[in-house]
Amino acid sequence: MDKSVFYFGVDYYPEQWPENRWSEDARLMKEAGFNIVRLAEFAWSRLEPKEGLFDFDWLDHVLEVLHEQGIVAVLGTPTASPPPWLMSQHPELFRVRDDGLQVSFGNRREYCPNHPLYHQYSRRIVSVMAEHFNSYPSVIGWQIDNEFGERCYCPVCVARFQEWLQNRYGTLEKLNTCWGTVFWSHVYTDWTEVPVPLTTGGAPNPGLGLDFRRFVSDSYLAYQQMQVDILRKTCPKHFVTHNFMGFGYEGLNYYDLARTLDIVSWDNYPLGFWQKDLTVVDPSVLALSHDAMRGLKQQNFWIMEQQAGPSGWETVSPNPHPGELRLWAYQSIAHGADGVVFFRWRTARFGTEQYWHGLLDHNGQLSRRYNEIKGMGAELCKIGDSILGTSVKAQVAIIQSYDSRFAFQVQPNHHHFHYSDHITHLYQTLFRKNITVDVVAPETDLSGYKMVIAPALHILTESIASGLANYVREGGTLVVTPRTGVKDDSNAVVNQSLPGLLAEVCGVTVAECDSLIAGTSQSIRFNVPGLNNLDPLEARIWVDILAPAGAEVLAHYTDDYYAGRPAVTLNKHGKGQAIYVGTFGGTALYQALFGWLVERLTITSVSTALEGVEVAERWQGNRRLMFFLNHTTVAQTISLPAGYVNILEKKTLGRQVTMAPYDVIILSVHE
Ligand code: GAL
Repeated sequence: MDKSVFYFGVDYYPEQWPENRWSEDARLMKEAGFNIVRLAEFAWSRLEPKEGLFDFDWLDHVLEVLHEQGIVAVLGTPTASPPPWLMSQHPELFRVRDDGLQVSFGNRREYCPNHPLYHQYSRRIVSVMAEHFNSYPSVIGWQIDNEFGERCYCPVCVARFQEWLQNRYGTLEKLNTCWGTVFWSHVYTDWTEVPVPLTTGGAPNPGLGLDFRRFVSDSYLAYQQMQVDILRKTCPKHFVTHNFMGFGYEGLNYYDLARTLDIVSWDNYPLGFWQKDLTVVDPSVLALSHDAMRGLKQQNFWIMEQQAGPSGWETVSPNPHPGELRLWAYQSIAHGADGVVFFRWRTARFGTEQYWHGLLDHNGQLSRRYNEIKGMGAELCKIGDSILGTSVKAQVAIIQSYDSRFAFQVQPNHHHFHYSDHITHLYQTLFRKNITVDVVAPETDLSGYKMVIAPALHILTESIASGLANYVREGGTLVVTPRTGVKDDSNAVVNQSLPGLLAEVCGVTVAECDSLIAGTSQSIRFNVPGLNNLDPLEARIWVDILAPAGAEVLAHYTDDYYAGRPAVTLNKHGKGQAIYVGTFGGTALYQALFGWLVERLTITSVSTALEGVEVAERWQGNRRLMFFLNHTTVAQTISLPAGYVNILEKKTLGRQVTMAPYDVIILSVHE
């Protein structure tokens, strides 16, 4: 990868169009300012039309046609969609669902990630491709497979799970103890007795439920690693990535998958699938995904699929307004994207995704969307250099744990509690204040952050707890919310008062808790200066009645049998402090608490907030780019310090600037 190039491009499926159209496509791509395409990630049946018979001529030709226009390529390994000849010959490769039924051919991702035979076929196609394209001048990287996901419960996975457990626990005795299999007479006497958690088996032992999810994640990790090893050995100059699915996907431990890749890329569809209940696009939700994907490796990332038009498989989403596609793409860049690739070039005339629109319409004509992105291409030609080398700097981190996500999938604790919604809610409070946030793994070095929020960190190991304690002792501010520290590494409830391993740091224990009836809420009142003038604030879903053991009480409950009992506490610990928020707040609670903390900790916001106008920034030394993103349908007038230049227009701005709906301004600022 050339670090001096801002990669801007499109996902291209030349195999779906006549060859005599390719050069016209390449010409139009160049005109749009594209310098990269992603190719071939679903082309297995064209690359190996019969077992062992490879046909790369067409792809060679496509690469040549593109290269003539100066366009380079990321190749996808085509393993996400096994060809019919393979699956009909080996029906044992079809994955088995959690109801015990085997999937059949017809969509994609039908395969079992553990099946040795699938590994064998994958290894072959990937090796042959790697050898062929290694020396091709315009191939610069690889995307492995496509959007890993889906659990398999087939007999191979059962046996592999049992081996995985042997590696993890060593002895059955240990597994029986950690899972507490004495409960309901589940004591295993042989590894082969341990089941996978099919839905037909009912609610599983929580230890089994968590470990199975970890095992599935490790299965994809091993499958990915098999491909990574081939590519690294054969194509050492190419980068390797996988296209992740953002914060919303919670089936795999993305931190693990990201570790061995060179860069993270992810697929950003603000309109997503056009579900019945989808309302308006919420920019904070997109921003959270960007920040979570940046957090996987704590480095800049790519968008491998950026929305290019209306989406939907069976239905068609609203048409993005003029300016929206460009706005979303600039939002990706504002949050750390160093490459943006649109999905897809031309809208397919056939196949499941006929309605998932590309930049060109079905008829191949240039669309309004093409022209909009072409405009952006021209802008990036001018400003790409000033974006490269900059990165996002945050003073606040939110910890996101896949182990906790998995544990809450097994036992949500409350019908209305969703771990990811809770994180989203906290994130949104800071987003609305234009405060930059990193979303990171629990094991991250936290020492650079002024504030760390550990929402519902359910699975809490000794090492994670000691990392957090250390962070506080050294002067950090930790904010903890209910259901933290409830479970050990095997998903058993800890033998301590909650929040378990964080009780000492928080200077508080949970005396009792109350899971609230749907639709009801409680309220809390703050009693510290700066917050004690507020009306009572809503407490939802869950109530921890706190028993301070050294912590100061910041707020108490106002009603019911816990009226007057502590709800929020602050404990000084070492040079820092830990705040325990004993309930899930409505927005007002988080606004109040974070407003108070942000001021006390002198956390800087990028800019004063104006509803619907996001302001984000990227830094290099003391130079920064400030992105103003008008996510609203109306013109917005923003106030700026005078004399800054909007690098998109090379124009010096005054103190008051009116932004058109969906418009973007990028200021270059030297401190
Ligand atoms: C993504 C996927 C693409 C395409 C797109 C639209 O999730 O990676 O291959 O399917 O969605 O459905």
